[in-house]
Amino acid sequence: MGGNAPPLAHRQNRERLTGKLPNGDREEPCKCSLPLWRLTNRIQRTALRAAADTARSTVGLETPQAPFSQTCIRRGAMIIAQISDSHITQVGGNADRQYATATHLQRAVAHLTRLPAPPDVVLVTGDCVDSGSVPEYERFRDLLRPLTMPVYVIPGNHDDRVHLRAVFGTQGAQPMAGFVQYVLDEWPIRLIALDTNVPGHHAGSLCAERLRWLEERLSEAPARPTVIFLHHPPFPTGLQGFDQRGLEGAEAFGAIVARYPNVERVVAGHIHCATQRRFAGTLALTCPSTAYQMFLDLQRVERLAVVMEPPACLLHVWRETTGLVTYTSLIGEYGPVTEIREEGKSLPQTERPEDAVV
Ligand SMILES: [Fe+2]
Ligand SMILES: [Fe+2]
Repeated sequence: MGGNAPPLAHRQNRERLTGKLPNGDREEPCKCSLPLWRLTNRIQRTALRAAADTARSTVGLETPQAPFSQTCIRRGAMIIAQISDSHITQVGGNADRQYATATHLQRAVAHLTRLPAPPDVVLVTGDCVDSGSVPEYERFRDLLRPLTMPVYVIPGNHDDRVHLRAVFGTQGAQPMAGFVQYVLDEWPIRLIALDTNVPGHHAGSLCAERLRWLEERLSEAPARPTVIFLHHPPFPTGLQGFDQRGLEGAEAFGAIVARYPNVERVVAGHIHCATQRRFAGTLALTCPSTAYQMFLDLQRVERLAVVMEPPACLLHVWRETTGLVTYTSLIGEYGPVTEIREEGKSLPQTERPEDAVV
């Protein structure tokens, strides 16, 4: 993560475009690393067609009319929203009564719809529902309906991949048989979904079969900035309850990721709190839950306790000028937004001066 230096994939791409670096056999110039306003009509048409196809296959949610990539191209940024661990039950189920998980997911969805810059895509990184039943997935899907952008889901340890698939269908491109693994290729950032679920267990796994599929996908586009999303974090979190039932295959996964410096992030959920850590030459992180959070007791790391701290989502934002920057966006009402003028004088929101800067 080298200071202000542009990401490696972008640097390589720029060098190729200026003739300083030859194209390898497998490496095409990364069209999506080009300044977005310079995409050719042909590339735009391809991206828009792919987006429209994806919209048709997206998770049984109502599909938006507008082509998503067009927004992305117009504003020169791609915004990936990540929410996690919603633990939806049927009405009156344990998590619903104890933690109001459905109400919290409703708030998270409303939050995403009210963001000043709407995300291009929403990723839900597992534990979508609490016990993996079809009625839970149907309720979960219904709670997501207000989102007008594509939404993609992966299973966590509380999920059931067969039931998830029964409700959400096959998602993305190049879906892997037997697992909920797929690729999203129509945005400037390539997104790769991994399935760490092991039926009946809280621990996760990336077996040889799933890792082979990942390596094949990564080898297809080694110069494109890529985000991998999965449920179980691939690193020790320092929280004993989670680390004792961690991710089998994490080391082999890391060995693959290390071969692809174009992997900008590995993003996970599962531990209901925000963490970041170096991992295999990239940055790995976890997203808080939309509902209840782990109570952090670093004095007693074996302790498993939860607390109703403000939930949050993550916004992974890609711009040509900044690379991928991840923001934490707290979900909830926190009073009026106050514009700040250059000289530091605060004004009520309603005045909205033209020269306001932040
Ligand atoms: Fe969870
Ligand atoms: Fe989990």
